[in-house]
Amino acid sequence: MATVRLDQKGRALTRAIPSSFDQAIAKFFGTGPTDLDQAKAQHLAYREALLNAGVEVTVLPSDDQLPDSIFVEDQAVVIDGHVLLPVPGHPSRVPEQPPIAEFVTRQLSGTQVCRMDGEARMDGGDIIRLGDLFFVGRSSRTNDAGIEELRDLLTHLGHNLRVIEIPGHALHLTSISSTPTDSVILAPEGYLPEDAFGELPEGCEVRWMPKEEAYGCNTIGLPNGQVLVADGYPAVLDAIKSLGLEPVVLDMSQIREADGSLTCCSLFY
Ligand code: GLY
Repeated sequence: MATVRLDQKGRALTRAIPSSFDQAIAKFFGTGPTDLDQAKAQHLAYREALLNAGVEVTVLPSDDQLPDSIFVEDQAVVIDGHVLLPVPGHPSRVPEQPPIAEFVTRQLSGTQVCRMDGEARMDGGDIIRLGDLFFVGRSSRTNDAGIEELRDLLTHLGHNLRVIEIPGHALHLTSISSTPTDSVILAPEGYLPEDAFGELPEGCEVRWMPKEEAYGCNTIGLPNGQVLVADGYPAVLDAIKSLGLEPVVLDMSQIREADGSLTCCSLFY
């Protein structure tokens, strides 16, 4: 989702929580989900929040062989109706991609589909979009070859790309930032240098949040002026309100335990 502008957020793909969710990879924000029923309830509330905001939501069936498969954002990159299918950066997550690739290419039939191969690696969670400016994280999941393939597509579409170094204590760029509007980046202190995003287009800004609210910096801005935010991050909540936006607060505790944030759970197309 992080690769679409606000006005492009009409449809979102999600995927149901598998019974193996407690085995999801968890090294950063969490140590592994502990309550499957609570995780399912949180995922349902998330989908309902999108629906209530007027988003058309599709839920793919769960796959119990794939503990991380609710994190659909990582599996496909949709930019202005074009699709880039990355090679996921963690081997266990590679088998998650086929049904998502099949869905988006069917929905966007007639569009250009690019497929990464060779040494290129990328998780979609390493990309954010500020209007028509893109940022990609060079991370443990996204490498230089992957970044160059993304750059090729963006150049073809007339967009610019800037690379952000993701520190070792963070998973993805979206783990520590988001664009609740097309002109604001939320990011936490203590993860990225102050000039990480470079000079921004006129009217755009980075709002720096306290380090301890890093997880809360992942938000989903929606076309109706609502912004999905995770519960428990008061500075982020204040920032959203001060932008004149309406926060919709969601309990993400079990999904956070799997290192997943709000944007990870949907793919806008
Ligand atoms: N648990 C999400 C990931 O590591 O990709």
